[in-house]
Amino acid sequence: MPQGPSLDDFVLLKRLALGAMSEVFLAEVKGAVGPDRLVALKRMRPEVAGDEAWVRQFLDEAHLSTLLNHPFLARLRTFGQQDGLLFLVFEYVHGLTLAQLLEARRTAGLGPMPWAHAARIALSVAECLGYLHALQGREGQPLGLVHRDIHPGNIMIADTGAVKLLDFGIARRSGRLTETQPGRVKARLEYAAPEQLREAPLDGRTDVHGLALTLHELLSGVQPLRRDTPLRTMEAVLKDVPRGLGAVRPAVPEALQRLVTAALAKEPARRPSLLEVRTSLDQALRDGAPLVGLPELAGLVAPWLPGSGRLPWSQEHPRENATVTRTADVSRPPANTKR
Ligand SMILES: Nc1ncnc2c1ncn2[C@@H]1O[C@H](COP(=O)(O)OP(=O)(O)O)[C@@H](O)[C@H]1O
Ligand SMILES: [Mg+2]
Repeated sequence: MPQGPSLDDFVLLKRLALGAMSEVFLAEVKGAVGPDRLVALKRMRPEVAGDEAWVRQFLDEAHLSTLLNHPFLARLRTFGQQDGLLFLVFEYVHGLTLAQLLEARRTAGLGPMPWAHAARIALSVAECLGYLHALQGREGQPLGLVHRDIHPGNIMIADTGAVKLLDFGIARRSGRLTETQPGRVKARLEYAAPEQLREAPLDGRTDVHGLALTLHELLSGVQPLRRDTPLRTMEAVLKDVPRGLGAVRPAVPEALQRLVTAALAKEPARRPSLLEVRTSLDQALRDGAPLVGLPELAGLVAPWLPGSGRLPWSQEHPRENATVTRTADVSRPPANTKR
């Protein structure tokens, strides 16, 4: 790995998330001015620093992220290591993940998302996936990238309404799509595609499945393949056909319901292509949907982002009290645990 910045170049302001392998902080680049001074710093957890598989996965995410540049992706700015701990520095997205948004709506008694908003978000993610899947190497060779972990926890809506795809932690080139570390570097069970559980070769249609599961959840409010035990969830991923959206959200246009059902086909070859997904979503949005653009998506997250337009750390986390060394306070519960 090239000599990158050191953690001492950043002030950690607040922990945003705690995952099994890494933690993500809102951080400030020391000495920087302007909005770019805020970053999301994803740091390997000290507990896993000696674990070769995790280190490799983290390095893979770093290397892959250096190739990516798309408006719907949280851009990697730099990466480095200190005391054997790797860290990645991303553009900070001031917003909510779809998982956080769904949870916030549930708590507020608002129910799942208006269908046109959900379709617009899915369309953005599909566009971003199209970019990812078509990415070529320096010599024009297709890289065959697959995200493999599309779910509501890895998609954010920024306060601007911009949709941002995150977390290339398990993304791979399709040529070497084998899940070599059983139970460790896999996608979350309830969002996995059947071919991921079967350890069969993966391609872009795996992401189509993840996108359809996400869209289903945005519209139904439930994780359609999640069951009460990991074993039952695995069985459901392999065999269960999720309930048609018509049964839970009759107001969702039929064409959209059909799209979700088709994209959840157990057999990848039966799923629509990304182009077909985009075409259907676009058509549904043209056929009498209310206008949904950036301002409307911004409006979706605004009620839970009281700091919008102000500095993105809240009153409860004044800067003076934030842990300003690289050993952030890990005794407090995280603001958001991984989901
Ligand atoms: N660029 C970012 N801007 C703001 N929040 C982020 C950013 N990247 C990650 N997060 C937050 O951290 C969480 C975990 O990040 P993610 O990259 O998905 O790591 P993990 O591999 O642990 O799932 C996300 O769900 C989101 O809440
Ligand atoms: Mg994630």
